[in-house]
Amino acid sequence: MSRPHNAFDKIVSLCKRRGFIFQSSEIYGGVGSTWDYGPLGVELKNNVIRAWWQAVVYDRDDMEGLDSAILMNRLVWKYSGHERTFVDPLVDCRNCKKRFRADHLSTKIEMTPSLYGSENMAHLDSVEPGEGGKAAPKRCPECGGELTEPRMFNGMFITYVGPVQDESGLAYLRPETAQGIFVNFLNVLRSSRRKLPFGVAQVGKAFRNEITPGNFTFRTREFEQMEIEYFCKPPKYLQPGEKDDIQLLEEWIAERYNWYIKLGISPQRLRKRPQAPDELAHYSKATTDIEYLFPGSLGWAEIEGVAHRQDYDLTAHSKDVPQEDLERLKLEKNVHSTEKLEYFDESYIDPETGQRGAKYIPYVIEPSAGATRATLAFLCEAYDEEQLSQPDEATLKPLKDAIEAALKNLAKRIDEESRKPRPEGPSAEQLKALESALKDGLTKLPQGLLEIDGACSLPGADRLDLIKKVKAIVGKLCDEHTRVVLRLHPALAPIKVAVLPLKKNEPAIVEKARSIKQTLKARMRAVYDDTAGIGKLYRRQDEIGTPFCVTVDFQTLQDDTVTLRHRDTMKQERVKVQELAGVIERKMADW
Ligand code: GAP
Repeated sequence: MSRPHNAFDKIVSLCKRRGFIFQSSEIYGGVGSTWDYGPLGVELKNNVIRAWWQAVVYDRDDMEGLDSAILMNRLVWKYSGHERTFVDPLVDCRNCKKRFRADHLSTKIEMTPSLYGSENMAHLDSVEPGEGGKAAPKRCPECGGELTEPRMFNGMFITYVGPVQDESGLAYLRPETAQGIFVNFLNVLRSSRRKLPFGVAQVGKAFRNEITPGNFTFRTREFEQMEIEYFCKPPKYLQPGEKDDIQLLEEWIAERYNWYIKLGISPQRLRKRPQAPDELAHYSKATTDIEYLFPGSLGWAEIEGVAHRQDYDLTAHSKDVPQEDLERLKLEKNVHSTEKLEYFDESYIDPETGQRGAKYIPYVIEPSAGATRATLAFLCEAYDEEQLSQPDEATLKPLKDAIEAALKNLAKRIDEESRKPRPEGPSAEQLKALESALKDGLTKLPQGLLEIDGACSLPGADRLDLIKKVKAIVGKLCDEHTRVVLRLHPALAPIKVAVLPLKKNEPAIVEKARSIKQTLKARMRAVYDDTAGIGKLYRRQDEIGTPFCVTVDFQTLQDDTVTLRHRDTMKQERVKVQELAGVIERKMADW
């Protein structure tokens, strides 16, 4: 499965066209990088979350769930460190108005380490870090304009609780769901009577006033997280045979990596990347990012981080912490918390005194994933295009002629460009890439329609009239001879089965198809559709990732069987209506 040149753009366009993801408040021009999930998008995202909850809560014996509030006491963010460290020094270009993180332009500016380590730093990858020791540059790295003095900028959204908008009611929209788990540690522990190690899972919205959001839903200001805080014993309190924190960290990294693979991400596009010491968030002893290879310029990027947070957070929210622990973790004394977030370990036996029982603050392993980001990764992985049939020679002639003409023009433009470049472009490199991709597609015809279509979307192609002509011709041929297919795992697919009548003007067929859909819908998400011919209906379902189509035809009326069509192979088999739901369920379970 290879990706077209412009796969990311095609996925964004498919998401809008088919109702996965829309720009938020679109009719008013949108609002800084927020997105709405449409009829299919909400199903897909919910399925991602459901699959996660199934794997990390229901399929394990050591996990509980939680749903804590978005608005929390401001003190949570004081003692978590967010008020102090979730800040970036920013400079603005007076000319092009672009905004940069000053510490990325120069190492001279002192700042506290970023709270989220590399992830939070990554959003200005495009800005080159300055050389060590040089003064802060006064010029914009993009246009050379003058830069303002650095100003501190907190990434948390502020709101007010209650009627008076002053400091006393100030609150934040949570920038991570994790803190809701930490401050509920004792509530969950006491109500569930858990023993270490155990974990708490939570899904929910998080908000960050990102400086440079972008790449569609990859980095947004409002997003959804799926976080686990897994509490375990510090090494000192381990009993023989118990797993230590490092083993548990490794197990979580493997388990989370395998979850993505099981749901269809190819191992070629998924990797574990341990963070370098200077990338680590200040609470972390070790973190491994799980990265996905997104199409286009985004490339390898984090979809989940598995961090060893030590006893940092539970200590930060505890009263009566010994001074040596505050110093070890570089924490301020908590004078507001009413509790010490510790665990009574009745199984512990002191090796020296033989005394039973110990109280201590557990360590935490945190697998923290983005639900919205993972949804985007699954969409990117699933997107595929296939040429299903070949146009005949006569139909291909206008396309071949248009390509030959475009290639002649390109050769001329490349020659001119290498002698006297036009500042407005396209550049000689762009023209050469275009030429090579078009030649490649041409030699593959009557296959190669998708390659030619992809070539016409390469950078610079939209500036050339002859390429626009090729694109118009090849676009029509693609509509007829190719299909887009979302190869989503059935557990994630928004719709599991579409029931389609072969003829919509045959009342007996329509009635039978509707009644089959009614029966199926009790067991799985099923839809009925008769708004086009059968070929087009199949294509529409392929494009949204529906793994099965059921076609009701004349034979159904005689022997009560239907055809069951498989999305990926397009193979069809005859199945008894009575057995249909069971057959589909088995196929989905064995996927
Ligand atoms: N509690 C730790 C924490 O929040 P993080 O690396 O900042 O760590 C965890 O975030 C995950 O949340 C990321 O791996 C990513 O999937 C998702 N995430 C973070 N910021 C995001 C943003 N602005 N837009 C979309 N997803 C985001």
